[in-house]
Amino acid sequence: MVSAEAGIDRVLWTEAEVAARVGEVAAALAADLRALPPGPPAVVVGVATGALLFLADLVRRVDVPLAVDFVRVESYGGGTESSGKPRITADLKVDVAGKHVVVVEDIVDTGNTLSFLIAHLEKKGASSISVCTFLDKPARRKFNIQLVGDGKFYSGFECPDYFVVGYGLDYAELYRNLPFIGVLKPEMYKKDSSN
Ligand code: PRP
Ligand code: MN
Ligand code: MG
Repeated sequence: MVSAEAGIDRVLWTEAEVAARVGEVAAALAADLRALPPGPPAVVVGVATGALLFLADLVRRVDVPLAVDFVRVESYGGGTESSGKPRITADLKVDVAGKHVVVVEDIVDTGNTLSFLIAHLEKKGASSISVCTFLDKPARRKFNIQLVGDGKFYSGFECPDYFVVGYGLDYAELYRNLPFIGVLKPEMYKKDSSN
């Protein structure tokens, strides 16, 4: 039997560290949502698939009325490098016009996915757009993240420039189910030059 964490070089943030930080980010987000003037409930938009675990852990700690929806935006194929052109492969169900939107991501890397998605949500008429990402990797940023209206930027941890997996983050769709953030062994992807 091969365990799910085969291929992990080392753990960057343990399950307990992840949980503690999610609690802090949730408290900050909840306080800001509570302070909003009366209006329609905010819409939390998870970016599938990576945001899956963070979104679930986050929203259950935000005791404020809110809607939850998903978009699917993909900028990586099976490999470790961005393909350059993100595309929306599943759009929102909830109408965000005139509403505060909180985009939830597992990681902001080049910013390609998020800058593209923010423009998309702005076109749909969101009154503000905040971003709540579990990991932020500013060393790799190529696209400026322009928040909308009174939108805020929340981040769990600043991530060093390693290929990290777990807690929603994948390599070739694997490792998302790890409850911690780990660094992938380079030999796991260096041998795979096909994508
Ligand atoms: C990953 C990650 C972010 C995005 C960040 O998604 O979940 O959405 O890349 O990279 P960027 O800032 O350079 O755009 P991916 O496209 O791999 O899809 P996934 O969430 O299904 O893994
Ligand atoms: Mn993603
Ligand atoms: Mg991915």
